[in-house]
Amino acid sequence: MSKIGIFHGCAHLCEPYVPQVCRVVRIESQTRDVKSIRLQTLDGARPFDVLPGQLGMLSVPPFGECMFAATSFGDDYVEMAVKRVGFVTERIHELGEGDQVGLRGPYGNWFPYESCRGRDMLFVSGGIGLAPVRSFIRHCLDHRDDYGRIDIVYSASSKADLVYLDELTNDWPNRPDTHVHVSVYHGSDDWDGPVSYTAPYLEQVFRDNGLSTENRAVVLCGGPSLFRTCRATLSELGVSPADIITTLEARMKCGVGKCGRCNIGGRFICLDGPVFTEEELASVARDF
Ligand SMILES: Cc1cc2nc3c(=O)[nH]c(=O)nc-3n(C[C@H](O)[C@H](O)[C@H](O)COP(=O)(O)OP(=O)(O)OC[C@H]3O[C@@H](n4cnc5c(N)ncnc54)[C@H](O)[C@@H]3O)c2cc1C
Ligand code: FES
Repeated sequence: MSKIGIFHGCAHLCEPYVPQVCRVVRIESQTRDVKSIRLQTLDGARPFDVLPGQLGMLSVPPFGECMFAATSFGDDYVEMAVKRVGFVTERIHELGEGDQVGLRGPYGNWFPYESCRGRDMLFVSGGIGLAPVRSFIRHCLDHRDDYGRIDIVYSASSKADLVYLDELTNDWPNRPDTHVHVSVYHGSDDWDGPVSYTAPYLEQVFRDNGLSTENRAVVLCGGPSLFRTCRATLSELGVSPADIITTLEARMKCGVGKCGRCNIGGRFICLDGPVFTEEELASVARDF
């Protein structure tokens, strides 16, 4: 089995700091605090070429700008899923269709979709962590014959916090050899699925489905506690750190390795990441 190889390097941009003026062409409320926002240039084109896992800096003048993963993209759009957590994301949630914003990018590296070809894929995410992972899931589903069995383990605090619920329940489970496993941390009357934190649920999915670690790539994205607990579970299940792919977050400003906001160890997440294998991160001190 060949090793998963991740490209680490700067995206080549002519004008790395200059945002393009884009138009919001579609907004969908995913949950009470997450909206998906679809963007086009003013002449109706995709704002930039982008690969699964890459990032864009979305600005709402004069309030500020924030980095988001491209959760999906098509010939004429890039879409981001934005969780409302503070000052700028609050402004983004106030946008309406037709409004203009700034967008610069793409930044960062991308998921190793080429070196994962031929493998079984296991995607593990929680809450808004599905947003970056979703671009890779969609790539695998669009190139279904290139990948083996696909399992998607996704959790959120409650049913009301599950993003892209329609895809999770009506689309992805109907794709060939694609298995979607969803749990919530807190049950409710309108939820009859599993109630479990992600790590124990991941272990249960692994065992109940007889998943092997052989020829499998695991893609992991979520908050610090999901990372910590799921890494431990995957290690107990015997998954090699070289087969675990993560996408990291940190506060970012420039996006091109200049301001020093996003460094971990000797690396900048905006420049060398956000995508790393666990093996690559093993020697880096971190709190996630
Ligand atoms: C590589 C990368 C990819 C990201 N992808 C997404 C995405 O797909 N969808 C999404 O909703 N968000 C994503 N984020 C996070 C997003 O950029 C922040 O939530 C946003 O910048 C917050 O801006 P704000 O002005 O609303 O919050 P602020 O008012 O600046 O802060 C509000 C609170 O959020 C915390 N916070 C802000 N930024 C971060 C961060 N990066 N990590 C952890 N805590 C933070 C602050 O400490 C504070 O407690 C990503 C961040 C990075 C670096
Ligand atoms: S955001 Fe400036 S160095 Fe990474």
